[in-house]
Amino acid sequence: MTIKEYYAPTHVYFGKGAEDKAGEVLKKEGATKVLVHFGTGSVKKSGLLDRVEENIKAAGIDFVELGGVVPNPRVSLVREGIELYKSEGCDYILSVGGGSVLDSAKAIGYGVYGGGDVWDFYCGKRVPEGIAPIGCILTLSATGSEMSDSSVITNDETDPIYKRGCNNDLGRIRFSLLNPELTYTVSKYQTASGSVDIMMHTLERFFHSGHTLELTDKLSFALLKEVIRWTPVALEKPDDYEARANLMWCGSLSHNGLMAAGNATLGDWACHQIEHELSAEYDVAHGAGLSAIWGSWARYVLDVDRDRFAKLGEGVFGESDPIRAIEKFEAFFKSIDMPTDIKGLGLDFDEAACKNAALGVTFQDARTLGDFKVLNTEDICNIYMMASGLK
Ligand code: NZQ
Ligand code: ZN
Repeated sequence: MTIKEYYAPTHVYFGKGAEDKAGEVLKKEGATKVLVHFGTGSVKKSGLLDRVEENIKAAGIDFVELGGVVPNPRVSLVREGIELYKSEGCDYILSVGGGSVLDSAKAIGYGVYGGGDVWDFYCGKRVPEGIAPIGCILTLSATGSEMSDSSVITNDETDPIYKRGCNNDLGRIRFSLLNPELTYTVSKYQTASGSVDIMMHTLERFFHSGHTLELTDKLSFALLKEVIRWTPVALEKPDDYEARANLMWCGSLSHNGLMAAGNATLGDWACHQIEHELSAEYDVAHGAGLSAIWGSWARYVLDVDRDRFAKLGEGVFGESDPIRAIEKFEAFFKSIDMPTDIKGLGLDFDEAACKNAALGVTFQDARTLGDFKVLNTEDICNIYMMASGLK
């Protein structure tokens, strides 16, 4: 067994009322003026934002607001946030919302620390050397950004539009306040999409090259089974605490590195790149995009190691036939109204659209992706074609 490194420094406060710790924790952190960052309305509607701001004020901490983060968060608002943080003399960022708000907060954090063009950190021109301190109050279980090293930003100032991630340990934020009750108001579609994302963060890691730590496989099966168990409960009864709590913690553990610990590599991650091209260009929900792609990817790469698929199927569904295992996952996605093809995203791809998207993923044929199976532009085009019913 080899575990070279495991780093998950975020201080998590979990459970009912966790958000009420905001003022206390920020004070302990030495914050004096906080940039409170949020989305397009849900936290105002639920009254959460008012409660949090009252709580911060009561702790004697000043704050300034920046709302307006949209799903697939945009670099233009990040730039606004960087200017605001500096001009207001802030020394902390508090994200109140889902993964998009938190990713935008991380980008602002890189920007205020690093100077220059913040997009450099996302297009790979520069590596961040620091970040402003960040905490979050999470309102949607999905991305795992509350413990992950990642932030994904969409550049709406370019044509074509780019969606790029910046993965760096600095992006693991200082604290996360996780109250499952705050996710009761998440729509059915976003709940289901979030659950697919949670599953995919484990599946991407499960499929990798080289040796595997058996414990990590077993943890992966347990996590996937819990998401499969609790998602329908949350959809049926949005205020079921057990369901929401299990999904929330699965979201954090699925993407904090645990599900790759002891494996030879960090995982495949091709599906995420293939999906990001869709959400960049067509603004689809990330989890829904993943569910539209995964089955086609799985069939395309199956022969690399059919036993791996068999093991997954057996561990999660008691189904050791590899093809039937893939079908079981797709049947689950369908059962929670998630698409299993590109049409299901409301998109009508022809061959030219598939080629164009594949070139976008490989930066015009400049890179390959994947680790379980390395994919080039032609492979990715084939996967888009399969997912579009053209192959
Ligand atoms: O803007 P508001 O009004 O808050 O509405 C949001 C948004 O419309 C709404 N929502 C959030 N919490 C709610 C709620 N509605 C009612 N009640 C609540 N409690 O849900 C909608 C979607 O929110 P968003 O934050 O976009 O969703 P999610 O958390 O799934 O984040 C998706 C983004 O994260 C990236 C994705 O690519 C996408 O851009 N990812 C980030 C990762 C990371 N940083 O580690 C990893 C992932 O693989 C992913 O790529
Ligand atoms: Zn994801």
